[in-house]
Amino acid sequence: MKKIAIKLLTPAEVPEIVELDRICLGGLWTEAAYLREIASDKSTLIILRLWESELNNQPQIIGMGCLWSIVDEAHITLLGIHPDFRRQGLGRLLLFSLLEDAIARQLERATLEVNEHNLGAINLYQKYGFQIAGSRKNYYQPAGDDALVLWLKGIQQDTFKTNLRQWQDQLGDRLSKNSYHLKQTKFC
Ligand SMILES: CC(C)(COP(=O)(O)OP(=O)(O)OC[C@H]1O[C@@H](n2cnc3c(N)ncnc32)[C@H](O)[C@@H]1OP(=O)(O)O)[C@@H](O)C(=O)NCCC(=O)NCCS
Repeated sequence: MKKIAIKLLTPAEVPEIVELDRICLGGLWTEAAYLREIASDKSTLIILRLWESELNNQPQIIGMGCLWSIVDEAHITLLGIHPDFRRQGLGRLLLFSLLEDAIARQLERATLEVNEHNLGAINLYQKYGFQIAGSRKNYYQPAGDDALVLWLKGIQQDTFKTNLRQWQDQLGDRLSKNSYHLKQTKFC
């Protein structure tokens, strides 16, 4: 089994996360931007660490996710998994963890923007109940791609919390099948 853990990003880990950001997102945020997120109590910036084996004391960061708490909304601003570790349920784990955090923060709904051509991410968000509510034209430059605006409403409602528990069970099965053992964290 490979051990994984979800934790809050710390300042010492910022150089490593900037490198992962470059690989996953083409260099979205700078070191200064990550440090600002860490300092803000409106932001939850989580990372996914992996220990490849029992003997491995140097876990690598293979994923990251961030939300901003704005009034009663969770704005998901970042979600990425290293390309070598995709399609194993880890993106779902990060999104699940952010939604758990949004619930704990007493937020009512979640939203994000996603490139209209990013079908993998759109599928992932729709699996968790996000719906397309509109688009922003020419949002991503220089390609001029549109951004789809997705919303997930009613995250404090019992029906959503019930769904979330079911997704958690499915996620647990998926991670086990891929030989991942999730250490208990604040988020899971
Ligand atoms: C989007 C991203 C985070 C998904 O991470 P992941 O670990 O591969 O996601 P999961 O394995 O948890 O996939 C969950 C579901 O998402 C959908 N999905 C993910 N990648 C997909 C792809 N390439 N094609 C189609 N569906 C995909 C599937 O429905 C998948 O469920 P399934 O594997 O049971 O079919 C990852 O592809 C990534 O980092 N992409 C680059 C950064 C990015 O685009 N971030 C989102 C910005 S809004």
